[in-house]
Parts: sequence; C-alpha cells; structure tokens
Amino acid sequence: MIFITGGAGFIGSNFILDWLNQSDEPVLNLDKLTYAGNLENLASLQKDPRHVFVKGDLGDSSLVESLLAQYQPRAILHFAAESHVDRSIHGPEAFIQTNIVGTFRLLEVVRAYWGGLPEPEKSAFRFLHVSTDEVYGTLTKEDAPFAETNAYQPNSPYSASKAASDHLVRAWYHTYGLPVLTTNCSNNYGPYHFPEKLIPLMIVNALAGKPLPVYGDGMQIRDWLYVKDHCSAIRRVLEAGCLGETYNIGGWNEKPNLEIVHTVCALLDELRPCADGSSYKKQITFVQDRPGHDRRYAIDARKIERELGWKPAETFETGIRKTVQWYLDNPMWLENVQSGAYREWVLKQYEGGRA
Ligand code: NAD
Ligand code: DAU
Repeated sequence: MIFITGGAGFIGSNFILDWLNQSDEPVLNLDKLTYAGNLENLASLQKDPRHVFVKGDLGDSSLVESLLAQYQPRAILHFAAESHVDRSIHGPEAFIQTNIVGTFRLLEVVRAYWGGLPEPEKSAFRFLHVSTDEVYGTLTKEDAPFAETNAYQPNSPYSASKAASDHLVRAWYHTYGLPVLTTNCSNNYGPYHFPEKLIPLMIVNALAGKPLPVYGDGMQIRDWLYVKDHCSAIRRVLEAGCLGETYNIGGWNEKPNLEIVHTVCALLDELRPCADGSSYKKQITFVQDRPGHDRRYAIDARKIERELGWKPAETFETGIRKTVQWYLDNPMWLENVQSGAYREWVLKQYEGGRA
C-alpha cells in the first residue's frame, strides 16, 4: 500500500486516479478536506476497496501513527499543502502550520515507523516529498532555467513555506537516514484544478461573462505541465529515484500569462462560441499586480530525463485543449465547487465512513 497526503486536492486526486488505473496496489489517502480538498474528484473510487479515505490533519501525529501501524505502507507521497500564492499573501498562518509544522510532524512520525520496520521493508521504504519550482525564486529573461543546483530564494509566504519543508526533508535524510526523494515541479494544469488558479479561473469567468483578471502587464512567465505528466514523473521518481536527490519536473513550456489567457479564450471561442459571435477576449481586464510577483519561472528538466528517462507525453497545445474540454464536459463539478455544494457532497457521500 502507498500512503498519500492531500489526495483530495488537484494533483493528489489526479495521482490517485492515475495510480489505480495502472496498478492494484491500494492507496491510503489522508486529507483534511480544506476548501481545496474535493472528494468529488474521486467519485469514481467511492466503492473501490483499493482507495481508503481518511479525513484528518497530517499534523495530527497520533492519527498518522495509528494509520501507519494499521496499514503498513511501503511509501509516503506527501502532496498535502496550502498551495495558493495569493492566499498565502493574505493569510500566511495556515501555510506555516501545514507546510512547515505539518511536514515536520509527519517526518517525525514516519521516521519512528520506518525505524521499526524489519528488512527488507526498511530498505525499500520511500518518503517522496512533492514540492515546487517556486522555491528557487524568480528569473530574468536572460537567466537559464532552474536546475536542481540553483540556490533557494523563495519570495512569497507560500514558496518560503515550501522551501522550509524541502529543507526539513533534506535534513531528515542527512541526519536520520530517512530514505527521501524530493520533486520540484512547475505550474500544473488539467482536470480538477480549483478555480482560484489562473487557467481554471479564466475558463470559469469567461463562461460566466465575468472579467478575466490579468495581474500587472500579464507578461510574467510560467512553465506549464499537464497534471498527468506530473503524476507520471512522480511515479518514475518513486520507482527509480536516488535517495536524498531532488528532481526538477517540467515540460519546457514557458508562456507569458497573457498568452495563456488568449489561448483559453481562443479555445472557448471555438468550442463554446459566444451567442453574439464576439470573442471571450473582450472580458480580459488588467488588474493590480500580485505583491512580490515572481517574473519568470522555468524548469531545466534534463536531470529527470537523463537519469530516469522521464519525458512529458503532452505538449501545451494538446494539454490545454483537453483541459478546456474537460471543464466544458463537467459543468456539475464546476457548479458544485462554485456554489460550495462540493462540501455537502463530501458529507453525504462519505457519511458513515471515517470522514
Ligand atoms: P491543492 O491545494 O489542490 O490540494 C491540497 C490538498 O491538501 C487538499 O486536498 C487539502 O485538503 C489538503 N490539505 C491541506 N492541508 C492539509 C493538512 N493539514 N492535512 C491534510 N491534508 C491537507 O494543491 P495541489 O495544487 O494539488 O498541490 C499539491 C502539492 O503539489 C502541493 O504540495 C504543492 O505545493 C505542490 N505543487 C503544486 C503545483 C501546482 O501547479 N498546483 C506545482 C508544483 C508543486
Ligand atoms: O510554479 C508552481 C506553482 O504554481 C505551485 O507551486 C503553486 O501551488 C501553484 O498555485 C502555482 O503558483 P502560481 O502563483 O504560479 O499560480 P496561479 O495560477 O495562482 O498564477 C499563475 C500566474 O497567473 C501568476 O503569474 C499569477 C497570474 N494570475 C493568477 C490569477 C489567479 C493572474 O494574472 N490572474 C489571476 O487571476
């Protein structure tokens, strides 16, 4: 069994769906179900015994201890985090608690569990920490993409909290020998992305006839990766990554934000044209910039390709088309998220379970 934290979030739920599509090894999913956790993402697994869902906080050491003792996982994949930069600017506390304190508590409980494992389980055990390219700070146009050897220079409360968690994971390897792996990935997009983030927000607002808020001049650059490609990279690192190493994950898809918004509008113009024949682009509105906004991220993904043979399957063009189509095909998911009904859905569907 593998143990996933944050499996009801965007990337965690895509990972679980993907994992169980390719393997019968069960998944234990611990998620606090904050606003970003949505069990509706995993509706197709509701009666599937291979998915065990537990509602809880990764910082609850006695809960995690008892789960480890009961399920004896061979690996922990740590996705859970507060993940939205804008929220971290308005309220950093939860980021410190979950991303730093929560990761610390998890590491401590896992260290005790791993220390008590017999061989060969002990040597085979892995703690895979899912992190972000934002820990490296920001690039100018001329800079080379982020390599694993770049210095950490986080600029937002979110990225600072993730950087701190990366350092803790590293220290637990060097000090205690915990068999860890860390991945630092660029911006993901795809199904089940909470519509507070750029791409799903633009889709949702465009369809609702609302403004499409572009921060500053819209020329900030992000490096985009289709979420299923992130999942395949994590699987690859889990099976073949070298202990204590970090792997940057990206798809060489640098795009300015404004270009992303134009692409989303063009796809919607094609797939769901406005009744009056106008383009969704007319809804684009330039708004005040994000404080401390990093200008450019770009990932040098040569290490994971060279050492582990991983490459993304999607281009940005194929991935973004699939993504826009997914949102058009899943209006109920969107409606439930927007109305807040997804939280009730959770309660109704999982009533009587451990949730
Ligand atoms: P998300 O916000 O969609 O999901 C986070 C999940 O963690 C939610 O289900 C939430 O309920 C859960 N959670 C939060 N606090 C918790 C706690 N204390 N205990 C247990 N569960 C808790 O985030 P995401 O976009 O899926 O990101 C997942 C991971 O990937 C994060 O660690 C993030 O830093 C990292 N990452 C994200 C991206 C991206 O583009 N989204 C890119 C690189 C790395
Ligand atoms: O780089 C990886 C990171 O990508 C992850 O670690 C984070 O968890 C994830 O949220 C994401 O962070 P960003 O801040 O890059 O993502 P977001 O979708 O919030 O913003 C993408 C870009 O778009 C960023 O430059 C800000 C801009 N933006 C965002 C929103 C929500 C806008 O211009 N308008 C918006 O309304």
